[in-house]
Amino acid sequence: MEMKVFPLAILLSIASLMASSSTSEAAASNGSFSFGENFDIMWSENHFKTSADGQVWYLSLDNETGCGFQTKQRYRFGWFSMKLKLVGGDSAGVVTAYYMCSENGAGPERDELDFEFLGNRTDQPYTIQTNVYKNGVGGREMRHMLWFDPTEDFHTYSILWNNHQIVFFVDRVAVRVFKNNEKPNDFFPNEKPMFMFSSIWNADDWATRGGLEKTDWKKAPFVSSYSDFNADGCQWKDPYPACVSTTTDHWWDQYEAWHLSDSQKEDFAWVERNLVVYDYCKDTDRYPKTPVECSLSPWD
Ligand SMILES: *[C@@H]1O[C@H](CO)[C@@H](O)[C@H](O)[C@H]1NC(C)=O
Ligand SMILES: *[C@@H]1O[C@H](CO)[C@@H](O)[C@H](O)[C@H]1NC(C)=O
Ligand SMILES: *[C@@H]1O[C@H](CO)[C@@H](O)[C@H](O)[C@H]1NC(C)=O
Repeated sequence: MEMKVFPLAILLSIASLMASSSTSEAAASNGSFSFGENFDIMWSENHFKTSADGQVWYLSLDNETGCGFQTKQRYRFGWFSMKLKLVGGDSAGVVTAYYMCSENGAGPERDELDFEFLGNRTDQPYTIQTNVYKNGVGGREMRHMLWFDPTEDFHTYSILWNNHQIVFFVDRVAVRVFKNNEKPNDFFPNEKPMFMFSSIWNADDWATRGGLEKTDWKKAPFVSSYSDFNADGCQWKDPYPACVSTTTDHWWDQYEAWHLSDSQKEDFAWVERNLVVYDYCKDTDRYPKTPVECSLSPWD
């Protein structure tokens, strides 16, 4: 992901939240994470706002800058989810992203799992793009249409990550399944713990109809809203937390989470038939030799 990231995270000072000494374990057991306890603003603190009760977070983009935040903690494996409501109206050129990455910059060795929401002109549909990077190599894009207008309401976007598969979910519908072949390989990220990030930025050089549609700054600021962050995963602790070994102590690491269930397969089949607009595995102009991971079946 090409984007501007400032290396020094600025601590967000929400005094009431900072005053609380509760740990993220306590927050996790409540299933609700507060902003100040769990996140840092990456850049442009003045483009970030919360609702009065602190439950909804707003990121805005204008002609000067976008904005982003990241978790303080890193995780390796688990279930990560968040609700997002995307910029409405004319949002061509605007990209809202929600992703996991092993670094807080675009380092050459990074692992990354992306959800990117590509804005569009008024009444033209948003597209979601997903991508997977290992050791700095991505190029594994898929694009999907959604079955609802993501600018009208909050919807849940989640990532399930264990050593067997990475599944991207939209409202608990599996839209993309990325399998491991359980051998040493150069496509499945499973070694580096990752932070979670959210950001909004201008990408009118590529995002909408391949860069033909430019951002209309008269419509700024563009605001995306976030709520209900949840990370039910293995929080990283140096040198190596016990939970990353495949202990199957956690639901996201147990047999049922290694494969789609029968009902998830039905939903996934429907998505495959109706909503896929781009799949790098089928792009033979770009990849004359099909990438190894493309032969792994999502149905296994
Ligand atoms: C969980 O957190 C929410 C939001 O901070 C709060 O309203 C709720 O009372 C908490 N629930 C419990 C059981 O602590
Ligand atoms: C950004 O927009 C504001 C308000 O429309 C304007 O005053 C300002 O000059 C613009 N800045 C740039 C860098 O274009
Ligand atoms: C925007 O709308 C156009 C026209 O419906 C569509 O072709 C395109 O895929 C949409 N999304 C993006 C990101 O360009």
